[in-house]
Amino acid sequence: MIRDLTYASIDWQNDTTPKSTVFDDCYFSVTGGKEETLHNFIKGNKIPERFGNAPDGCGFTIAETGFGTGSNLWVLLEHAGDYLDGRSLELTFVSFEKYPLAPGDLQHYLQKIYRIDESLFDTAGFLAEYQNLQTGRNSLKIDSGSVTVNLILYIGDLNDYLDDFAWEYRDGVDAWFLDGFAPCKNSDMWTPELFKTMFMTSKINGTFATFTVAGMVRRGLRNAGFSIMKVPGCGLKREILTGIRLSGE
Ligand SMILES: C[S@@+](CC[C@H](N)C(=O)[O-])C[C@H]1O[C@@H](n2cnc3c(N)ncnc32)[C@H](O)[C@@H]1O
Repeated sequence: MIRDLTYASIDWQNDTTPKSTVFDDCYFSVTGGKEETLHNFIKGNKIPERFGNAPDGCGFTIAETGFGTGSNLWVLLEHAGDYLDGRSLELTFVSFEKYPLAPGDLQHYLQKIYRIDESLFDTAGFLAEYQNLQTGRNSLKIDSGSVTVNLILYIGDLNDYLDDFAWEYRDGVDAWFLDGFAPCKNSDMWTPELFKTMFMTSKINGTFATFTVAGMVRRGLRNAGFSIMKVPGCGLKREILTGIRLSGE
């Protein structure tokens, strides 16, 4: 059954940081969204080293919970050229989003807040495609210099898509960006089923990174099979959590 798409209800804090009125939580901290992304998700998954060692033309798959403003992808694209140093990469970026930003909100964010460099990719073309999002699986293409992105957006509650996703991406994910609002504000997302699916779909040596070190998240990911490690955070976060799938079991 196709459900109607529900856009995010946003309250802009200081006209810079989106806050969800449904989850009563900010998408990222008021002080430094880009730095947080770079530290937590990109460096937390050792993407600079992994892109640095990637052969020319190779593929890399990232899965993310919560596309929101897309900022994790935009920051990655901004830095990917430096990491790849002339080589090309085919990036599959799969993201789940229950309440996508309304096209006008995303345009406002990209152009007025993030101030996206228009030479990074065809932003207008992307926004035109984004307007046609439907619930379910959407496939969009982004060409960004040396990186070709196959962006798969699952629109709707990720719990509805975990089985389909696990079937399509079994042992196929290189890195997980485990985003989403804080577990205390969004407990429905941080489930054992999600952690199990993350493990099942990760490659051997596949990794995850998340901003939260909440006990239920640590236990859930460890029970699913990941080796987990707390590492220093940035900004107001003292620690974040990273992990790796070391074996098949
Ligand atoms: C902290 S925001 C971050 C989003 C994004 N990574 C960014 O930087 O803008 C969390 C996102 O997770 C989405 N989300 C929360 N629960 C979800 C669920 N059960 N299924 C899919 N998306 C969900 C929210 O709608 C929101 O866009």
